[in-house]
Amino acid sequence: MKVGVLGAGTMGAGIAQVAAQSGHEVVLVDLNEGVLEKAKFGLAGVLSRMIEKGKLSKEKATHIQNAIHYATSMTAFEDCGLVIEAIIENLEVKNKVFEQLETIVSSECILASNTSSLSIASIGSALKKSDRIIGIHFFNPAPLMPLVEIIPAVQTSAATLEKSKLLIAEWKKTGVVCKDTPGFIVNRVARPFYGEALRIYEEGIADFATIDWAMTAIGGFKMGPFTLMDYIGNDVNYAVTESVFASFYFDPRFKPSFTQKRHKEAGFYGRKTGRGYYDYSEGTAAIKPNEDQKIGEYIFKRILVMLINEAVDAVFMNVASPQDVDLAMTNGVNYPKGLLKWGDELGLEEVLLQLEDLFAEFGEDRYRPNPLLRKMARENRKFFN
Ligand SMILES: NC(=O)c1ccc[n+]([C@@H]2O[C@H](COP(=O)([O-])OP(=O)(O)OC[C@H]3O[C@@H](n4cnc5c(N)ncnc54)[C@H](O)[C@@H]3O)[C@@H](O)[C@H]2O)c1
Repeated sequence: MKVGVLGAGTMGAGIAQVAAQSGHEVVLVDLNEGVLEKAKFGLAGVLSRMIEKGKLSKEKATHIQNAIHYATSMTAFEDCGLVIEAIIENLEVKNKVFEQLETIVSSECILASNTSSLSIASIGSALKKSDRIIGIHFFNPAPLMPLVEIIPAVQTSAATLEKSKLLIAEWKKTGVVCKDTPGFIVNRVARPFYGEALRIYEEGIADFATIDWAMTAIGGFKMGPFTLMDYIGNDVNYAVTESVFASFYFDPRFKPSFTQKRHKEAGFYGRKTGRGYYDYSEGTAAIKPNEDQKIGEYIFKRILVMLINEAVDAVFMNVASPQDVDLAMTNGVNYPKGLLKWGDELGLEEVLLQLEDLFAEFGEDRYRPNPLLRKMARENRKFFN
């Protein structure tokens, strides 16, 4: 089957590589010829590094390169069985493009979007035959990150979902199916990793370096929240937080932080601007954390129980199965352990007690324990045996 990818930016170029590596003929389309050139050049670089490391043969690399065809018009998608859209995150633009796309491809062609924040239902509304719309959400960098969220919209047919699941498995990715709800799994469940860290900082409990130390040295996370936000970019991370908050009808659990907003407003985006929560200019010494075990434990536990509560909510609201929620967080954002498994290990009753303490202390809805957590703790149940 020929696979089409629309948009040759960060995500589109990576998705095209994944499809070509799995043996498909790929058509990569972008309006901008310069972007296509960059994608082609970038792929050549990636493949030669893989050859150097002995991960790929020269023949296979040539095969992958020859399998991708570059074009500036969507008419090149004519005989594709699947087209994945990865253009600008704007509903109006995506709707226009999907409407046009439908006039080019056959009625059998599956039409997927890689959107991070728009609903798949709203993107599919532009189609006449809307049962072929689906969300296929890769993580950056697509060739390296194993997770793919597969999101059927209310319009999506069972056949479209099944074919998409099969394909993602053939591409040797970890596919998790989730409901068409804001942030899907990862961008929803991960919110407290940033939000609660920022809140702890705002309360004056610890500085950025100490919170990062607590989450890495005690929690076992690969990166602390502030290092990670600086890596993602505070502009991007703040925009996702605002969008999730608004999409959840302003549920206080997802309330954005002034600290992050001010950093964004100041242009302190993180690594890409040389300054975020940390200063990345040359010669700047790293800030030493306060390695006080008691404070560290408090920080880690407080963020962890908030994350577990959010993971439980995703199960409670049938966004995804417990297995898929845990797979998403370990494969999509490299968490050291699935959050539900972590909850089982800590004891769900203990998690509940800690949340109840926070709720009693602050009196804020943000800390309300999830009803499923209460029920499972009461019944002494676990998510996994
Ligand atoms: N960057 C990430 O980490 C990430 C992760 C997951 C999902 N996403 C989603 O993937 C999509 C693309 O994001 P990105 O970061 O790759 O963006 P990007 O800006 O790097 O690339 C977008 C590309 O689309 C092209 N484009 C815009 N309009 C077009 C049109 N009408 N026809 C053809 N090409 C067009 C642009 O020229 C650009 O090259 C967005 O929906 C985003 O939300 C991004």
